[in-house]
Amino acid sequence: MTPDDAREVLAAARRPVALTGAGVSAESGLSTFRGPGGLWNDRRPEELATPEAFAADPALVWSFYRWRRERVRACAPNAAHHALAAFEAAHEGFVLITQNVDGYHRDAGSRAVIELHGNLMIDRCSECGAERPADPRRDAADALPRCACGGLERPGVVWFGEPVTRIEEAFAVAGEADAFLVAGTSAQVEPAASAARVAKRAGAAVIEVNPEATPLTSIADGAFRGRAAALLPGLLGGAR
Ligand SMILES: NC(=O)c1ccc[n+]([C@@H]2O[C@H](COP(=O)([O-])OP(=O)(O)OC[C@H]3O[C@@H](n4cnc5c(N)ncnc54)[C@H](O)[C@@H]3O)[C@@H](O)[C@H]2O)c1
Ligand SMILES: [Zn+2]
Repeated sequence: MTPDDAREVLAAARRPVALTGAGVSAESGLSTFRGPGGLWNDRRPEELATPEAFAADPALVWSFYRWRRERVRACAPNAAHHALAAFEAAHEGFVLITQNVDGYHRDAGSRAVIELHGNLMIDRCSECGAERPADPRRDAADALPRCACGGLERPGVVWFGEPVTRIEEAFAVAGEADAFLVAGTSAQVEPAASAARVAKRAGAAVIEVNPEATPLTSIADGAFRGRAAALLPGLLGGAR
């Protein structure tokens, strides 16, 4: 499949669906987990992004997330996020499934977004579940954030070992897809990666954008090696 073929397949799809991962935000300046710069103070994020880590040392886990929030506030959506938002505006029925927690797809204007791993910019009470938007002043304070009920708040993300959000809906949408674009994900975190397999089994054309091969490359009908911000505007630019 050439890039022109992929553009036509996406433009003509009745139910185009995209799955994005950390690579889509890499060019905004947010590091991926598995690429260069994926460490924080010599720790692997996988060691900090767990309920066990939070229970053992909430201050350590919060300092990791407060640092990530600073990065999100300091950077902005890039051409890949904008291309996906523009595609949604022009293609009714398009749904975007993302593993990203930075909220940049919504910031860029995407509305039909399934955030499988929650949102970094939300504080959620670990006792009563109440949520509120992250506040830079609260994040700058020494004290850990507490809910009105007295419970310790946590970042509104899904941690390793926790159930992802809206996965049934994501699989249902993937099963309806006739074109399925996978961009910027290493496809190593389940069940997100399986959404592409569900789509493939249901007959969708799978189109991958990533500088490197992934476990999904073997099922891709078109695999385009490159950066999302460089390739997505072209692939998503076709008129229906
Ligand atoms: N921005 C974010 O929200 C963010 C950042 C880091 C990690 N995460 C979390 O990391 C977990 C890991 O899964 P993942 O697959 O999303 O990330 P990952 O770190 O495992 O993989 C990133 C992938 O992006 C590719 N990539 C790097 N630069 C790219 C670019 N410019 N354009 C396109 N692709 C590029 C890499 O080759 C790699 O395959 C997820 O749970 C996600 O919630 C999110
Ligand atoms: Zn509470």
